[in-house]
Amino acid sequence: MRKPIIAGNWKMNKTPYEARQLASALVPLVKEARCDVVICPPFVSLGVVKECIATSNIKLGAQNMHWAESGAYTGEISAAMLKAAGAEYVILGHSERRQYFGETDETVNLRVKAAIAAGITPIICVGETLAQREGGETDAFVTGQTGGALQGLTARQAEAIIIAYEPIWAIGTGVTATDAEANETVGVVRRAVAGVFGADVAQKVRIQYGGSMNPKNASSLMAMPEIDGGLIGGASLRAEDFAKVVLY
Ligand code: 13P
Repeated sequence: MRKPIIAGNWKMNKTPYEARQLASALVPLVKEARCDVVICPPFVSLGVVKECIATSNIKLGAQNMHWAESGAYTGEISAAMLKAAGAEYVILGHSERRQYFGETDETVNLRVKAAIAAGITPIICVGETLAQREGGETDAFVTGQTGGALQGLTARQAEAIIIAYEPIWAIGTGVTATDAEANETVGVVRRAVAGVFGADVAQKVRIQYGGSMNPKNASSLMAMPEIDGGLIGGASLRAEDFAKVVLY
């Protein structure tokens, strides 16, 4: 049985002061959660958020990292730095990073390997554009992204990762994929994992849905057999809403 995992991606929101308020408000609201709960604040708030959630069931995640161990990479953050700040998860290859910051399947793969080497669980994002969906390219595209991100991993490493299927047309738009659409494409992602590592590994990998997931649609999405959790943007910025999703 795969344990569901719901993560909040705060994106570029909340100052450290605001992050402390949000994380503190969340702690009592989610303590009965049956799923794994992760929150991913901006880098500068990792420390304060870690303090707030230290004795809670909430785990800390980051939103990106560089693959090098250290060096002349101005503005970048390494896996060891995230680990030292208390992060157990890191979101990698989010569509916003691919779209605005030139990340590719190759650099996502480098980040995935570096995260695993440091003992951080990657949450690897895949997902198609509206044009790709309308053009019937969704399955081939997400299969390619999945294979690219996982290249060179061992089966042991692959079974512990998390993948987030986030159709780009559903992110921040209020347009959610239907339960059936989300389930179907999460199934495509799982078959892509099976194609590389076999069915046993694919059955262990947890695959989230992300894209306008909120308190209203969480329970029906979470009831779908292929969907093992959610990656939540907008609705993770309000403690009450995120808690409702977590307690779906
Ligand atoms: P929204 O929940 O705001 O659509 O964002 C989804 C997302 O991109 C999470 O990573």
